[in-house]
Amino acid sequence: MTRMIEVLPDKATLIQRSLQLVLDKLEVAIAERGLFTIALAGGSTPKPLYEAIAAQNLPWDKIHVFWGDERYVPPNHPDSNEGMARQAWLNNVPIPEANIHPMPTDAADPAIAAQQHEQQIRDFFQVESGEIPALDVVLLGMGDDAHTASLFPHTAALQVRDRLVTVGSKDGQPRITFTVPLINQARCVIFVVAGASKQAALAQVFAPHADEQTYPSRLILPQGELWWLLDQAAGEKLG
Ligand code: 6PG
Repeated sequence: MTRMIEVLPDKATLIQRSLQLVLDKLEVAIAERGLFTIALAGGSTPKPLYEAIAAQNLPWDKIHVFWGDERYVPPNHPDSNEGMARQAWLNNVPIPEANIHPMPTDAADPAIAAQQHEQQIRDFFQVESGEIPALDVVLLGMGDDAHTASLFPHTAALQVRDRLVTVGSKDGQPRITFTVPLINQARCVIFVVAGASKQAALAQVFAPHADEQTYPSRLILPQGELWWLLDQAAGEKLG
């Protein structure tokens, strides 16, 4: 793993840098493998990034979109990560619907939805059980409590090593989330983090020693590249 940390002067520059990095990875992936696979983050920070991607002229038929986590609500719900990305990006470009791979949220039991999505990922990447596919890019945000995707502090989802997708929990509400092994198999993980409210969590995530169950973003150590793109407000106290 190679870890890169960049502190950008403001939010607009953070978004521009994130866009450039995604486009660089997209170009290489399509040149080398003929397609680009990306998992999106929820939260508020990446929305302008999705709008900026939508404004590009890209080979949309070669781009496959997944989500690193999803709230357990239908796609038209205001909390839906899929809904946000469709509005900001996917509805506005000619990407084939078959290239969009949302997490199901309509099973009676979220555990069933997680299993269904794991199978969808296995089928798409053509990996057997026991194997873990490598996405080209996994975009992540980080909460003030150092959670990422829906890997919240001291929850069972943090321990899951034998699945690709599992059920997360935020304040007792179920979510669907990529597991640590699936995220860590990525060729490139990009955290996009903005705002002063993230400073304390970042200090713990970058500390030489701290508890991974308390600061789950510490568990993200991909086999490929790890990028932390921060705006000045988030990154200014870092040594
Ligand atoms: C989600 C996210 C989550 C998010 C962080 C940061 O679905 O809630 O994927 O992990 O990235 O909570 O959110 P902000 O960008 O709003 O700070």
